[in-house]
Amino acid sequence: MRWERVADPAELSRRAADLLLEAVTENPRIVLGLPTGRTPEGMYREVVRRCRLRTFCFRDVRSFNLDEYAGIPSTHPGSYRSYMRRHLFDHTDIRESGIHLPEGDAHTVRSERPGLTLEEALAQECLAYEDQIAEVGGLDLTFLGLGRNGHIAFNEPGTPFDSRTHVIELDPSTRAANAACFPGEEVPRKAITMGIETILESRRIVLLASGSTKREAVRRLREGSESVDFPASALHRHPDVTVFADHLAWSPEP
Ligand code: GLP
Repeated sequence: MRWERVADPAELSRRAADLLLEAVTENPRIVLGLPTGRTPEGMYREVVRRCRLRTFCFRDVRSFNLDEYAGIPSTHPGSYRSYMRRHLFDHTDIRESGIHLPEGDAHTVRSERPGLTLEEALAQECLAYEDQIAEVGGLDLTFLGLGRNGHIAFNEPGTPFDSRTHVIELDPSTRAANAACFPGEEVPRKAITMGIETILESRRIVLLASGSTKREAVRRLREGSESVDFPASALHRHPDVTVFADHLAWSPEP
């Protein structure tokens, strides 16, 4: 695991955007694993800004988001599909066919699989998502955020390291942390997430950690021991992980 300590969220965003765009330039048909949350917003802003200066920036890129809420329509403003449109896809030349997110909309998932219960239909969607990733030859480069409790994607503490894409019950602390995306509404209780093993199969991984709320999680990750109670620690098993952590995420308690 390589640690890159950066000054602040602006430098973190620039460095992550540099890395992403260099990788796309090297391989225009790259398969990306992409995160949501507040942390990568600056990276996406930076990527969009620089893409505006180029042609065919994302035209042949294939992207797979790490996760999506279950039980809300994908057009809901709080969905990760809406997030990705707002922050990245609508501002680049990525093809619609290059965009992939798990489908968590109960109506769509069930109407595509008539006769199944919602649980069965969601379980099939998880398998289908794995198949889609496999069909393009796997993930080349995956960016991750870091949950305060150490979750990666929506793999909450206790998720086995050999997990594949699955439906998960969200931790109350994760729902509280994401409440701002659902003003006046309940945060969904379930989500579909790539599994830890799915993520570990990505050829390269970049983890972004920003702000003092991530300090404890960064401290635990730096400590180096592996535990299913701390999902990010699975990354120690991967040969090519870079962590960008800003000053506030890094500093020891005063
Ligand atoms: C959500 C996402 C994660 C993300 C985490 C941290 O739970 N599913 O992929 O890493 O939030 O988000 P933030 O960057 O807003 O702290």
